[in-house]
Amino acid sequence: MTNILEVRDLVKTYPAADGGRVRALDGVSLDLERGEILGIVGESGCGKSTLARSVMRLEEPDSGSVRLGDTDLTTARGRALMRARARIQIVFQDPFGSLNPRHRVRTIVGEPLVVHGRKGVDARVRELLEIVGLPTSAGDRLPHEFSGGQRQRIAIARALALSPEVIVADESVSALDVSIQSQIINLLARLRKELDLSIVFISHDLSVVRHLCDRTEVMYMGRVVEASKTRALFKDPRHPYSRALLSAIPVPPKKAVRTERGERIILSGELPDPAHRPSGCAFHPRCFMAEELCRHEEPALLRRRLEKDIGQADEGRLAACHFAGDPVPGGT
Ligand SMILES: Nc1ncnc2c1ncn2[C@@H]1O[C@H](COP(=O)(O)OP(=O)(O)OP(=O)(O)O)[C@@H](O)[C@H]1O
Ligand code: SF4
Ligand SMILES: [Mg+2]
Repeated sequence: MTNILEVRDLVKTYPAADGGRVRALDGVSLDLERGEILGIVGESGCGKSTLARSVMRLEEPDSGSVRLGDTDLTTARGRALMRARARIQIVFQDPFGSLNPRHRVRTIVGEPLVVHGRKGVDARVRELLEIVGLPTSAGDRLPHEFSGGQRQRIAIARALALSPEVIVADESVSALDVSIQSQIINLLARLRKELDLSIVFISHDLSVVRHLCDRTEVMYMGRVVEASKTRALFKDPRHPYSRALLSAIPVPPKKAVRTERGERIILSGELPDPAHRPSGCAFHPRCFMAEELCRHEEPALLRRRLEKDIGQADEGRLAACHFAGDPVPGGT
């Protein structure tokens, strides 16, 4: 499989209130295969939106690279950047904030086509509304005339206007009721198939990621702490932070999908001040497995294997924890 998107060692810092710096992204890498849906999860403030904005070049990362197909997005300028931007689009959480309230839906959805000088805008807008499951008459109305779920469909139609290869969905269903959430998730799953889209799906809610994403990366304080096929992650999370997040998902009693271990871990303590990253493993002040070593030595994100992984097809798991298994030689 070829990667449509490759992010390497992305770093983004912001000034902190005390004069220091917040490392909102502290060396994040990801690979997105063509046609794949990759989940990014983690608590509020762990850097998910910063990742989305930096990948899209809506913000300049301090360092690192973003490659979209054969284009280096981090160095592209002018027309090359504009062309690349047409190939990767973002859908935000709050469609109200991103849809101009005074413009009719037809104008909103067609705007990227007009900006890029495309022909046949009206016909394409009708087609886009149909693709996202809205009647073509929706084009004549204003955003406030629609429900939250419908507004998110409008935002998706607009994002699809230029036939992008990649969609970055940042908390795109978080503000919606659960039943509407699943409609939008089904829509994204259908679009992936029909339009051969690749999607980075960002959410603080693991239960949403579970049904949609092929692979998932778990972030903590600006870093990826575990990356895995979603099914394996849910069945048997290896990083204590993933284990804590997963065990906190409320599940109906008869559909107990807790971890293989059936554990229930309460995440103790608040997320530390992002401007003062704890020493060693940044998760150690909250970790139920922390030992002395964790305070001093930072665990690298490496492919690590437990005894039960040996001889398995997909040996080991990418995890940044001293106790997630022995590093697999040559495995990153
Ligand atoms: N423009 C900014 N200026 C200063 N600090 C910022 C800025 N944007 C983000 N941060 C900080 O960077 C860190 C990561 O924020 P980010 O918004 O990326 O997190 P998130 O994972 O998207 O959170 P949420 O789930 O709440 O959306 C936080 O500590 C945040 O306060
Ligand atoms: S390295 Fe230590 S503190 Fe960090 S997640 Fe693993 S056990 Fe917990
Ligand atoms: Mg965010």
